[in-house]
Amino acid sequence: ETDGITFYYWALFDGHAGAGAAVMASKLLQHHVVEQLQDLVDILKNSTSLPPTCLGDEPETTSNSRTLTRAASLRGSVGAPGSPSTPQTRFFIEKKITYEYLVIGAIENAFKEMDSQIERERTSYIVTGGCTALIVIYLLGKLYVGNAGDSRAIIIRNGEIIPMSSEFTPETERQRLQYLLVAYMQPQLLGNEFTHLEFPRRVQRKELGKKMLYRDFNMTGWEFILFDENRLLLPLISKEEKRARVMATIGVTRGLGDHDLKVHDSNIHIKPFLSCTPEVRVYDLLQHEHGADDALVLATDGLWDVLSNEEVADAITNFLANCDPDDPHRYTLAAQDVVMRARGVLKDRGWRISNDRLGSGDDISVYVIPLMHGNKLS
Ligand SMILES: *[C@@H]1O[C@H](CO)[C@@H](O)[C@H](O)[C@H]1NC(C)=O
Repeated sequence: ETDGITFYYWALFDGHAGAGAAVMASKLLQHHVVEQLQDLVDILKNSTSLPPTCLGDEPETTSNSRTLTRAASLRGSVGAPGSPSTPQTRFFIEKKITYEYLVIGAIENAFKEMDSQIERERTSYIVTGGCTALIVIYLLGKLYVGNAGDSRAIIIRNGEIIPMSSEFTPETERQRLQYLLVAYMQPQLLGNEFTHLEFPRRVQRKELGKKMLYRDFNMTGWEFILFDENRLLLPLISKEEKRARVMATIGVTRGLGDHDLKVHDSNIHIKPFLSCTPEVRVYDLLQHEHGADDALVLATDGLWDVLSNEEVADAITNFLANCDPDDPHRYTLAAQDVVMRARGVLKDRGWRISNDRLGSGDDISVYVIPLMHGNKLS
């Protein structure tokens, strides 16, 4: 509740290297969200009576479609190449900023403030480790899903799956990480140990002088390069067992905390490579009809490592269809059911799930949030 505007909030934190950051974020991130949204209350209040997308910077205007305008200037380069351009040619671009983007900005800033608070207070309160964060805010008819890490959110609507997040891992963020190493890191800070170039496999000294495939931060495809001494550095992103890691240390590239994380046996800090910025996706609840079995599902990687979106959606849809429609616990029970499906049953050699696959050994948290109007979200 921010002075008249009510919003709902759900959050999932998956800690690593200690519970401190996850516990702290689970208690405090919502306060940072409130603080950020507080600044928008007047704008949001006025925008509710407007067509859903536009808002104004002059509250007294009577126009129905008010837009917050910002003039961005582009300088045309009219001088000789290389000479400083003179602002003779200026283009003004009017950019329409909808209020959703103010909410997204508020969420992004809340994550940043949370991360700074962990950094400031981590020594006085012994806040250990780091955590991923996946949050949902329901505000003025829209769901905002903010994700930093490798948890995942999907919407199940009439059996159809709508992805509401994407995972941030060394593999999905390869180019950002490589670019950071090139642009901001002084190689000597990294003890000249890591190369930003990616090779399909670890190359060995005996391969000196041969041609190797590689790719740089600005490439999606591969190219040949002559393999010389310089290439013997360690890979920035290494693949271990089933999971890729940054500098052989961490398998997730966004989240909160981890300010003291270092490469094993070294003084190399990992934090500059980790981002606390969430990706925020918006879903307009009022634009769709929702049935009683439609839901937003949030879960940690422990679930998604072993079950696909389709398997999770099928399990939840089938479970809900077989529940007493008046049972207030049906969504909680569906969440428990899907956790047990991912865990599996103990057979002679270990935990097995359907098709004799291995169950998840990781911790698993799941939310199933109903979307139907008249349910909790109304
Ligand atoms: C990528 O960036 C590097 C370093 O800035 C540059 O040398 C190279 O030409 C670029 N490659 C492509 C394909 O743009």
